[in-house]
Amino acid sequence: MSHLSQRPADPVVGESHAHESAAAHVTGTALYTDDLVNRYPGILHAYPVSSPHAHARILTLDPDPAYQVPGVVRVLTSADVPGVNDVGTKHDEPLFPEAPGGEAMFVGHAVCWVLGETLEAARLGAAAVQVEYEPLDAILTLTDAIAQDSFHGSRPTMLRGDAATALATAPHTLSGTFEFSGQEHFYLETQASIAYVDEAEQVFIHCSTQHPTETQDIVSHVLGCPANEVTVQSLRMGGGFGGKEMQPHGYAAIAAIGARLTGRPVRVRLSRAQDMVMTGKRHGFHTTWTVGFTDSGVLTGLDVTFTADGGWSLDLSEPVLARAMCHVDNAYWIPDIAVHGRIAKCHRTSQTAFRGFGGPQGMIVIEDILGRIAQTLGIPAREIRRRNFYSDGQTTPYGMPVRHPDRQFAAWDQVIDHASVVDREAEIELFNATHPDRRRALALTPIKFGISFNLTAFNQGGALVLVYKDGSVLVNHGGTEMGQGLHTKMMQVAATTLGVPLSTVRLAPTRTDKVPNTSATAASSGADLNGGAVKDACEQIIARLRVVAASTLGVHPDDVRFSRGVVSALGTSQTVSWEDLVATAYMRRVQLSASGFYRTEGLHWDASVMQGEPFKYFVYGVAAVEVEVSRFDGSYELRRVDIVHDVGDSLSPLIDLGQIEGGFIQGAGWMTLEDLRWDDGSHDGDRGSGRLTTAGASTYKIPSLSELPEQFHVELLDKAHEEGAVYGSKAVGEPPFMLAFAVREALRQAVAAFGTDAVVDLPCPATPEAVYWAVERVRSATPVSS
Ligand code: MTE
Ligand code: MOS
Repeated sequence: MSHLSQRPADPVVGESHAHESAAAHVTGTALYTDDLVNRYPGILHAYPVSSPHAHARILTLDPDPAYQVPGVVRVLTSADVPGVNDVGTKHDEPLFPEAPGGEAMFVGHAVCWVLGETLEAARLGAAAVQVEYEPLDAILTLTDAIAQDSFHGSRPTMLRGDAATALATAPHTLSGTFEFSGQEHFYLETQASIAYVDEAEQVFIHCSTQHPTETQDIVSHVLGCPANEVTVQSLRMGGGFGGKEMQPHGYAAIAAIGARLTGRPVRVRLSRAQDMVMTGKRHGFHTTWTVGFTDSGVLTGLDVTFTADGGWSLDLSEPVLARAMCHVDNAYWIPDIAVHGRIAKCHRTSQTAFRGFGGPQGMIVIEDILGRIAQTLGIPAREIRRRNFYSDGQTTPYGMPVRHPDRQFAAWDQVIDHASVVDREAEIELFNATHPDRRRALALTPIKFGISFNLTAFNQGGALVLVYKDGSVLVNHGGTEMGQGLHTKMMQVAATTLGVPLSTVRLAPTRTDKVPNTSATAASSGADLNGGAVKDACEQIIARLRVVAASTLGVHPDDVRFSRGVVSALGTSQTVSWEDLVATAYMRRVQLSASGFYRTEGLHWDASVMQGEPFKYFVYGVAAVEVEVSRFDGSYELRRVDIVHDVGDSLSPLIDLGQIEGGFIQGAGWMTLEDLRWDDGSHDGDRGSGRLTTAGASTYKIPSLSELPEQFHVELLDKAHEEGAVYGSKAVGEPPFMLAFAVREALRQAVAAFGTDAVVDLPCPATPEAVYWAVERVRSATPVSS
């Protein structure tokens, strides 16, 4: 793995290519897990029996009436689990609540599953199952969980210096409580699994999963068999966004148990409403904070407590919380700091990974604080933010040196320049002075996001590269494709390292029997980890072919060059084609396949004290967003968005551009539109049912074309080569999501412009309704001038 970051002459990486499945995506020929149903004759369909209670004990469960329904084949209950009845990694997530005696933990919790010849038969069968519940007290809000001391998992603390003294001696302090919503993944493809027992008695599972190895592990525990009896394939996903990192395991396990018990293929696929009601979401957070700062807005100390809404089981809540705590600094130096974290346990879905993995929840808190400090001091927010940027030699609150902080300044200044920020600020001032009922504002926010899994062990990747006798190449790697373009990048890496045209390389679906013990495709590290492994495998093959080529061309092996299917050498004009070289190598009995491996060096993390160097590097970026708000109804539009984003030396610029645009828009959805509501009694004063009331596209609004910015400019940061990462590139999947903080901060500034000297309280999401009330508060607090 020498020269990991160095590019050869004329590399295929760095070229813009369409996503490898783009044509299939847009013509509808790309297959997803549930599209395979018709390939399995005799397949059974699964339907859950769902709890109507947020919290209840199961007194009795009688499956017999379901068997009276025509077409019902089998009812699966806790009694049918051959191995361990658990699908969490923390052993707090029974696949089925024990019946009788077990507890249903949220509205929609599946207490058993019915298998039918058709989905309709399974559905009718599920309706016929008799379950008697004893309702128990339920905790339906974060504030109730805090009041009742209902927490689970660890309660970490991260400390640097003496925050208490820093706050006591600060020239200014502010305190606040900030609670913000979670977010529904709304991947277009809902959770789906198909399992069957193959001709060798292996359980084979097609699963829409970001983490095939963990799906395999969990299924093998549930079945009580070794991992080598279970194979999981993730063909491609219609989006995952973190929602398929842990959540698919239970559905795969249902399909697998059903297949083992009936000997027939079993399909589990959730409807949109089921998916929204049953699966975990982004964690909403409750936070309390006190910040200290100088007259010029320089941060001196911060004390913050995060309470994450973990839902009923732990799932990934601990690592999500850890990432939130590691990102509360965002791009800013905070000398003395105390960060406390805890995870509320309440009777809701078990919240899980979602793009940014807690990072957004940490970073939004400091951006909210800086927005308030700016308005408190009456200094432009853009000044205050830049003043607080990290500079060389400083470390994060968890003790990691911040390398290349100059790139943060570079991105910031490039946005100001290319987006004509200074001129536009003057124009906005003029506009606001002449339009009584509308206000515009322009805000800039930065991101600094750490790349690597906090848990060091996960930072490994594997690949299996096969060169066939005809020269064609088949790449297997441990990462999964969810639309983010990982496969495209891996093909470009393989083509570059082998020196063949992109068309020579084909990518195989991700399977646990090709590459074992993989990590989740998550933490944006898919290209770093699997790219390192693909490159390693290709280099092994090239090392062998180099020797063959040297003897064919009569040169020294070091002088052989591979590029775009032509093998040449220094000191001779003779060349040989890739295909001929491969054929010769085969005849000489040279191995034409290799398994590759990569691990990220130099990482360490001590979770007990929340200190270490958990990240390989930081990704930087800056967004400048201009909004216009109407005071009549709080409606607003994004007039213009400018982004400068750091992807290192891009592996695939078009793919990266798509990730930046998509991430930003998804973040803007979280900031402005996506309003998860649960019936928690908070509106009518009763106890609430705990039901998710926004369980469909009609009540849960995600961004669509009409919310896109009128102008959207994205640039990649220049001179951003990342030493020690695959071909000098950086991860891109999650960080752009957090660029959308600029939308919220622009709204804050626009709302403030309806009054004088206002400090604006803005709920998150800042829906038009919320913005309307914020404007009303500002206007009523502002004396009418003569
Ligand atoms: N892009 C698309 N189109 N669909 C997705 O599901 N998931 C995001 C991001 N971009 C996602 C996406 C998340 S949460 C992560 S962690 C990364 O992609 C994972 O892929 P990578 O590691 O290859 O970047
Ligand atoms: Mo992404 S939230 O790490 O799957």
